[in-house]
Amino acid sequence: MKGIVLAGGSGTRLAPLTLAISKQLMPVYDKPMIYYPISTLLISGIRDILIITTPKDAQLFKDLLGDGGRLGCNFEYAVQEKPNGIAEAFLIGRNFIGNDKVALILGDNLFYGSGLSALLQKNNDPNGGVVFGYHVNNPNRYGVVDFDANGKVVSIEEKPLEPKTNYAVPGIYFYDNSVVEIAELIRPSKRGELEITDINKVYLEKEALHVSILDKGIAWLDTGTFSSLMQASQFVQVIEERQGLKIGSIEEAAYTMGYISKEQLHKIAKPLLKSGYGEYLMKLN
Ligand code: DAU
Repeated sequence: MKGIVLAGGSGTRLAPLTLAISKQLMPVYDKPMIYYPISTLLISGIRDILIITTPKDAQLFKDLLGDGGRLGCNFEYAVQEKPNGIAEAFLIGRNFIGNDKVALILGDNLFYGSGLSALLQKNNDPNGGVVFGYHVNNPNRYGVVDFDANGKVVSIEEKPLEPKTNYAVPGIYFYDNSVVEIAELIRPSKRGELEITDINKVYLEKEALHVSILDKGIAWLDTGTFSSLMQASQFVQVIEERQGLKIGSIEEAAYTMGYISKEQLHKIAKPLLKSGYGEYLMKLN
């Protein structure tokens, strides 16, 4: 399965932080934001990844992440000229996806928790589409999914004024190859964007949309406002300092998944010793 990280957008809700630099390069405590979604794809078993950025920021992402070879992965890059909507990722990524299935993750979404890796891996070979459901306090800010007792999706709506449930749809999606065809069919919404929710609605009409619940043992944070960005940093700091374990380390994820050997990990760690990050990687068993 292939993976796409969508890391474009205008970042206007974080201005002036984002006037000169992409939001997904901002720090979330001790790592650039994009480390978190990339590590989530890696622990899902996905290591062939397309990173979509704005034209202006593309080089910075390449400087940060390279071609993925040092992590036993393949990273490719593409640009989104304008923020035309999340679903445009499948049009931009059409050649990269080829005949494969594909997972999409938003570059500002952070997932952490017990059982996450197993749950994601269970869903990484879908027939149709898989969205996740996560109980939140303020569902009207998100895509909202309604489902029956058997977990069958009944409806999915984008930012509804009157949400039918408290289950928001986080920014990670798994699809079979027909997602490319579906992305070609959908039209821009009233706000002028190709909506990911419209893709999901097509799968729902075909009775091919499945929902997997991320339970309360899992944290899903987004980082779209000053406040949520700060909360995400604080969350990562509290857990990391308490446990002595890191969240969102792409190097650790690659090592744990067996994409790289201990020798390769140590080579990556050496230039990072001074910050403590390298020391952490050196100590991993
Ligand atoms: O975070 C999950 C939510 O993400 C879902 O529940 C919603 O269904 C989905 O529409 C989306 O809602 P947002 O309003 O949060 O999307 P936003 O426009 O903020 O974009 C999310 C990220 O995707 C953001 O970091 C920038 C990036 N993006 C967005 C658009 C529209 C792009 O790279 N290109 C784009 O064209």
